[in-house]
Amino acid sequence: MAEKKLSVNDIATFCKKKGFIFPSSEIYGGLSGFFDYGPLGVELKNNLKKLWWKAHVHEREDIVGIDGSIIMNPQVWIASGHADHFEDVLVECKKCHQRFRADQLVEEKLGINADGKSPEELHELIVKNKITCPNCGGELSEPKSFNLMFKTYIGPKQTSESVAYLRPETAQVIFTEFKNVMDVSRKKMPFGIAQIGKSFRNEISPRNFLFRCREFEQAEIEYFINEKDLNNCPYFDEFKEYKVLALTKDMQEKNQEEKETTIGKLVERGVIKSKWQGFWIGFEHKFLTRVGIKSNHLRIRQHLDNERAHYSLDTWDIEYKFPFGWKEIEGISNRTTFDMSNHSKHSKKDLRVFDEKYKEKVMPYVVSEPSLGIDRLVLTVLFEAYEFDDKRGNVVLKLKPEIAPIKTAVFPLVSNKEELINKAREVFKVLNSNFNSLFDKSGSIGRRYARQDEIGTPYCITVDFDSLKSDDVTVRFRDSTRQERIKIKELAEKIRQFMSEDNCS
Ligand code: ATP
Ligand code: GLY
Repeated sequence: MAEKKLSVNDIATFCKKKGFIFPSSEIYGGLSGFFDYGPLGVELKNNLKKLWWKAHVHEREDIVGIDGSIIMNPQVWIASGHADHFEDVLVECKKCHQRFRADQLVEEKLGINADGKSPEELHELIVKNKITCPNCGGELSEPKSFNLMFKTYIGPKQTSESVAYLRPETAQVIFTEFKNVMDVSRKKMPFGIAQIGKSFRNEISPRNFLFRCREFEQAEIEYFINEKDLNNCPYFDEFKEYKVLALTKDMQEKNQEEKETTIGKLVERGVIKSKWQGFWIGFEHKFLTRVGIKSNHLRIRQHLDNERAHYSLDTWDIEYKFPFGWKEIEGISNRTTFDMSNHSKHSKKDLRVFDEKYKEKVMPYVVSEPSLGIDRLVLTVLFEAYEFDDKRGNVVLKLKPEIAPIKTAVFPLVSNKEELINKAREVFKVLNSNFNSLFDKSGSIGRRYARQDEIGTPYCITVDFDSLKSDDVTVRFRDSTRQERIKIKELAEKIRQFMSEDNCS
């Protein structure tokens, strides 16, 4: 978004000023990596979650949802591999004792992708390139691995037996509940389980506002198939011609830039390894455009071999072009039978299912795990929507109407005429029972419009003296400032229509 020259600090300041997001516990000096959503932020975030649930659960026959617990039996994290492998590499400044993520330091200094490099490889790069503490210039310690799971204790005794962890991903609940969900929902593979919920990671250096927090929300799906059906995806054709900017493993190794191609071509060339994975990458990309992210601000990037998580056979990230570079907002991994097999082994429960099609008992194979960070999505849609309008002299937040926190704002033209206020209140009551709306009678009409532009309200409704005679109002559209006269009795229906057409002009 270079053309907008908008920094992440600008967005953070804007969010605080307007009531979208506040730094957590600010009256006590804050807490790094934690944020609170304010009155507008919670609406925006809930709208995004609602839309995700609609697109992934309600609009699909093959996905059901769950809502699991944050703290699970600690055995889960041994079976899943997180106890041993969920680590980042940290270095500490020997002088000021500040700690940093070693791969991030190397990336920033050398402009290379250092994700997945071992502590030894990072040490070599740090020494060879004389990288020092960005804070005080001091010498850095040898890098070492650091497990990102937050520890807690269950019950009053704080012993090693009572240690538990806050989940670092929501996914594990889906694996441990797989059998229950399959039995009660009477689903057969291929099918998926969806969940939205909090995850926690003790990030070494939280940064870039909502991008890297220590407490965040994930929207995840585990999609289960029989491995024999890797290329038997009934929905694939829908995305065969779907265009994306793509950066494959091979292209990264040759230092090339992303290029436009289609999902079909990437699957045909075997770069995306199955039609199911191709479908899910296309489906997720399309969802992101549905919430208002421009396709040319997104790219799909394949993980390098040393970058993939311990459970993954192949991972593609959907990245957004932030002012601080192309960064992941969603990961889509093929987790194979890794988790289900390990849970089967550790719990000593047979988690295989009978596949009627092949008349065999098989371990469910996770062909795709779309994993989207809701907070990163909030940040992304804010970057996409934020525009400073020179003519108006204020920000216009061009959010899609479906995700805008407030859909309609109702104003009496003047604030000292009882009749007008009463009429406007009547209109507000009707609209508010249909959509989240707001009533505002303070300040000039121009100021009231500006306030709504800044928070992304798509429709402002003014009740004037003519409204008292002819029962109609002026609707003003956010993006164009065009105005249209509409009968009060038709208003809610018309607004619903504008919203369904994404019409803010
Ligand atoms: P990164 O490489 O940026 O650290 P990651 O590879 O650790 O991300 P995943 O483990 O793939 O991320 O997590 C899935 C999704 O969860 C990410 O795409 C992101 O949207 C979200 N997520 C992960 N870590 C954080 C975090 N610290 N803060 C906010 N969102 C996060
Ligand atoms: N469930 C994938 C992740 O959080 O990394």
